[in-house]
Amino acid sequence: MYPRSFADSDGDGLGDLPGITSRLGHLVELGVDALWLSPFYTSPQADGGYDVADYRSVDPIFGDLADADALIDAAHTNGLRVIIDLVPNHTSALHPWFAAALAAGPGSPERDRYLFRDGRGPDGSLPPNNWTSVFRGPAWTRVPDGQWYLHLFDPGQPDLNWDNPQVRSEFEDVLRFWMDRGVDGVRVDVAHGLVKQSGLPDAGEQAPGDNDYVHTGPMWDQDGVHDIFRSWRKVLDQYPGQRILVAEAWVSPLERLARYVRGDEMHQAFNFEYLQAAWRAADQRTVITRSLAATALVGATTTWVLSNHDLIRHATRLGYPAGTVLPQGIGPDDPQPDAELGLRRARAATLLILGLPGSAYLYQGEELGLPEDIWLSDGARQDPIWNRSGHTVRGRDGCRVPPPWDGWQPSYGFGPTSASWLPQPEIWANYALSGQRGVPGSTYEMYRTALSLRREFGLGAGTLAWVDDFGPDVVAFRNRGLLVIANIGTTPVALPPTLRIHHASTPLPPDTHVLPVDVTLWAS
Ligand code: GLC
Repeated sequence: MYPRSFADSDGDGLGDLPGITSRLGHLVELGVDALWLSPFYTSPQADGGYDVADYRSVDPIFGDLADADALIDAAHTNGLRVIIDLVPNHTSALHPWFAAALAAGPGSPERDRYLFRDGRGPDGSLPPNNWTSVFRGPAWTRVPDGQWYLHLFDPGQPDLNWDNPQVRSEFEDVLRFWMDRGVDGVRVDVAHGLVKQSGLPDAGEQAPGDNDYVHTGPMWDQDGVHDIFRSWRKVLDQYPGQRILVAEAWVSPLERLARYVRGDEMHQAFNFEYLQAAWRAADQRTVITRSLAATALVGATTTWVLSNHDLIRHATRLGYPAGTVLPQGIGPDDPQPDAELGLRRARAATLLILGLPGSAYLYQGEELGLPEDIWLSDGARQDPIWNRSGHTVRGRDGCRVPPPWDGWQPSYGFGPTSASWLPQPEIWANYALSGQRGVPGSTYEMYRTALSLRREFGLGAGTLAWVDDFGPDVVAFRNRGLLVIANIGTTPVALPPTLRIHHASTPLPPDTHVLPVDVTLWAS
């Protein structure tokens, strides 16, 4: 969940930790095992909290440390585990270390905790190399004394120097701080970016597989990152119970990703290659097979994910023809999705991933079938990508709009007032939880039943055996006695009359023997 957008307890239009605690009942009813929270630490919010000024405190907009403790306790009481987000690639520019680095000047130990360099050209007025920021524009900003500092993201997010021992020991200490408070896991932000190729050489041309999220070059996926995660694993292993590390690493191919989850490193990594696969049967089969094989190589669990706080929601993404490459953020003048088709496919895709062995990560609001907010006015946008791209790339606000809890309340029940940090579109009323709870066939009830059956059948810990009986346009497999069949073709598919149907992504008529297009079925 994105804490800014989940639930607002005090009516200021920003979600907060007490808001989350008050809504844990929803997560229990939905049937998830754990929650992963995007950062809630003290931050000037240059990038929604991914710019951390103090890793050991809670930003007042979200509450305080006592609220974090209360949330962790309440989650545990409700049988939910808590995964927090650690941001080790960069701090905020308002972190005391960065202030000290600016004050101490070139060549100082304070500067060595970041990546300061002299510029190129006779007067040093050119950046030290040609790297660009993920948020567009140059990756270097010049400071008044003439040196430049590296920021792979916003200038408010200076990159740390992971060759500096103080940086290493500080983050081990931060890990202990949160482990001591009882968190069960840590999602590691930009895990593939911590170590840069020595000498910071110019980046070459973009590689063929590069896109808005997957990058290659001297700043990504350097072998040196793995030592860091080995040392973190040792920290976690000193704690009782199961504590996990989850990598956000946009690396490709899957075999490179598997290196992050070797036995002595992290436990899981988000499977973005699956997320990027087209809604075509052959593509789905291939990426599922490759994902399972890559993690099997290192004895780790495979993960599945369709949406998160950085990506166009899958109910919208799947409303475009299969394989469409979308811009990062959609506006009213972009080609528009087929919303009905998108939701139907999103439900089918969800039931497909929830049928697979491994761990599935869901993003707040997808259980309501929420689409991307493509109606958001440009003036309301807050993602730094929008400004840094010179208003050419809309960015990620469209998936961060607070979801609707109640169709009749101000801010659709997000908080006690009508305030919402991003305006909610009127169409939200049609997706509110209040209109879906207990309603057979609603997206919410579809998720709930799926999660409960997933638990009952033990699908997460199962194994996949492909079933070829239904032709090339159907993805079908068995997992723990459950037969999962997804029709990703263009014509309905005949089903064996003996099947016992447990669940379907779109409700089917009783005694049907046909699987319609873009529907996933669970049967035995
Ligand atoms: C990750 C986060 C994203 C953030 C970026 C920089 O990709 O998921 O939201 O902007 O890191 O910290």
